[in-house]
Amino acid sequence: MKHRNPKINKYYMIFPGDGFLTRWKKRFTRRPIPKFPRNIQIQTQTGCNADCVFCPYGATADTQPSGKMDWDLFRKIVDESAHHRVRRISPYLMNEPFVDREIFERILYINRVNPQAKVILTSNGSLLTPPVVERLLDLGDGLHELAISVQGIDPEAYESTMRGGLKFDRTMANVTHLIEAMRRRQATRPALWITMVDTEIIDARKAVEYWRSRGVNARYTMLENRGGNIADAESMAHHQGMDYFSDCTRLFKQAYIKFNGDLVLCCTDYEAKIILGNVRDKSLYEVWNGEVATEIRRKFLSNRIGEISLCSVCKVDREREVQVKSSRPLPIVIPRPPSARPPAPTTA
Ligand SMILES: C[S@@+](CC[C@H](N)C(=O)[O-])C[C@H]1O[C@@H](n2cnc3c(N)ncnc32)[C@H](O)[C@@H]1O
Ligand code: SF4
Ligand code: SF4
Repeated sequence: MKHRNPKINKYYMIFPGDGFLTRWKKRFTRRPIPKFPRNIQIQTQTGCNADCVFCPYGATADTQPSGKMDWDLFRKIVDESAHHRVRRISPYLMNEPFVDREIFERILYINRVNPQAKVILTSNGSLLTPPVVERLLDLGDGLHELAISVQGIDPEAYESTMRGGLKFDRTMANVTHLIEAMRRRQATRPALWITMVDTEIIDARKAVEYWRSRGVNARYTMLENRGGNIADAESMAHHQGMDYFSDCTRLFKQAYIKFNGDLVLCCTDYEAKIILGNVRDKSLYEVWNGEVATEIRRKFLSNRIGEISLCSVCKVDREREVQVKSSRPLPIVIPRPPSARPPAPTTA
């Protein structure tokens, strides 16, 4: 498979035939592949309550094993991560994080064992009911960032994108309640983001502007065909003929661990087609640096992407990604001191 727009990846590997100059250039212009993943996504439980039009989940869920990661395995991964420089741990992968009723205990465990790692979640927001929000905010600083996927600001476009029964009004009510609860508590964590995928179905620019006007951070990101798993992605894309994702950096910095311990290629591998190893019997370090992972990276960086089934057909709709950090994120209502308060009205 020929890649039409090969982009230079910012990571490098030294190959046997590389001359002195090539080695020198690589070392000074690109990054070495870390010996341990900087980011780790852990599927604590399979399952999602939606079937988004651009997500491989709906079409693959029935054929894939389902289950929950046992605590021994979860602890093993988090314990190992504490011995390395890990930037972030996200306790979800290809699922909806709040289907796991133990998600809060999982976050607390990460906080306790690896306090250096940021904990970041992405959720569709539909299960963020008031009691769930209370537990979430009780984590204090434990959850660093929460991104809520809200596809657009038009109910019809939202519901035809986030299929499977998600209701626009209910998600919006959940988000509004979360914002108000954060304001009441004067909470600065989690950093809240509304996120959406920029497709022809929704008006992402209008939606980002709406959230900005409410003082909430918002962003839209590029549509991907998820390793070729979304066959009709181009029908939703801004550009006909999406671009090969040859500059993808996922396999160089991020580990994706399924509930059974399988380390899969990336977040698009819903059918676990490319398994790099299993971290139940081996360490994550061993699997990350193992022969399977190394060979795949070698192929990716040496114009042999065509030999990696998922990467060879993986495409992205190259649109500008926009991220608007609100200048007044979740404005905090500070109660005025008693002396400044106007006198209570009298009835006389
Ligand atoms: C797979 S979901 C898992 C978390 C949660 N269920 C959610 O939707 O936020 C993680 C993120 O991937 C995004 N996503 C799913 N399919 C995508 C695609 N084809 N292209 C780009 N982003 C996609 C979702 O919108 C979501 O923000
Ligand atoms: S994008 Fe998230 S909410 Fe939508 S189907 Fe996929 S996992 Fe579920
Ligand atoms: S399939 Fe390959 S190119 Fe596509 S996101 Fe995964 S690692 Fe990146």
